Amino acid sequence: MKRILVVGSTGQIGSELTLALREKFGGDNVVAVGHRRAPGKALVETGPYITFDATNRDDIERAIKKYNIGTIYHMAAVLSATGEENPQLAWHVNMDSLYNVLELAREYKIRLFYPSSIAVFGPTTPRDNTPQDTILAPTTMYGVTKVTGELLCDYYFLKYGVDVRGLRYPGIISSETPPGGGTTDYAVEIFYEAIKHKRYTCFVSKETVLPMMYMPDAIKATLDLMDAEASRLVHHSNFNIAAMSFSAGELAEEIKKHIPEFVCEYKPDFRQKIADSWPKTIDDSAAREEWGWQPDYDLANMAKDMLEKLTKKHKEGKL
Ligand code: SER
Repeated sequence: MKRILVVGSTGQIGSELTLALREKFGGDNVVAVGHRRAPGKALVETGPYITFDATNRDDIERAIKKYNIGTIYHMAAVLSATGEENPQLAWHVNMDSLYNVLELAREYKIRLFYPSSIAVFGPTTPRDNTPQDTILAPTTMYGVTKVTGELLCDYYFLKYGVDVRGLRYPGIISSETPPGGGTTDYAVEIFYEAIKHKRYTCFVSKETVLPMMYMPDAIKATLDLMDAEASRLVHHSNFNIAAMSFSAGELAEEIKKHIPEFVCEYKPDFRQKIADSWPKTIDDSAAREEWGWQPDYDLANMAKDMLEKLTKKHKEGKL
């Protein structure tokens, strides 16, 4: 088979996605690409691991030729909070790398997965049960790059027939690789701090509600969309997907059910404004109809599993 390239394989989603792809297609068939972050042990031990900067087209092309690549998962991006601190960097990394990958996908007939985000929505989008096809007017640079990316991906599909597919991930909660530089990071940090210190100071208010998803569902959605029958797809690079929505306060209460002495304080910072510009709940009926999307995890079973996994790591001195 032609091999798979995962760009951004050391990130929160990329690291677990690479391992899931290797499980499914065989370790040697999935080439992991890192850049700044150090790779975890499993990533380097289960298959090929290389490094390059995806804003450099030649490096990507060399890897495509060397490994006979047929599919790319382009997971590298600067997220929303870092993007507001350095909008120029966010544009450069997110757009230049995507443009390179799309051009190479066109030339080498490569299939592409594009991770979009709830950040494509903005303050003028309906915030409850946000429709699939709605106003896309984000007020963060990250959101601007994700909307542009969706449009560009759809353009390459329409104009050149590139098979590109993408999901608008909500905040992703996971126990393996921590996220970095996102607005939804509090929903992961709170678990680590609850276990380590029984306290957490949350950077959004108690009332802030955002759509979230547990990593196993995010991986399942990614693999299922890429496996979907092309003829059934009406949308391509921009599927809404939902699993759960809760306030920061509700998340803290859920953790307290397992760790009664846990205390959460709220000190909103600049990320509050970003969170307030995003939806509370998402309508994912297009994903359900076009490729059978259905989540497995809600707040209760996600929190239970997170706490079990992180408690075990803590006991082993790995947290
Ligand atoms: N989790 C991302 C962020 O907060 C949203 O895609 O930036």
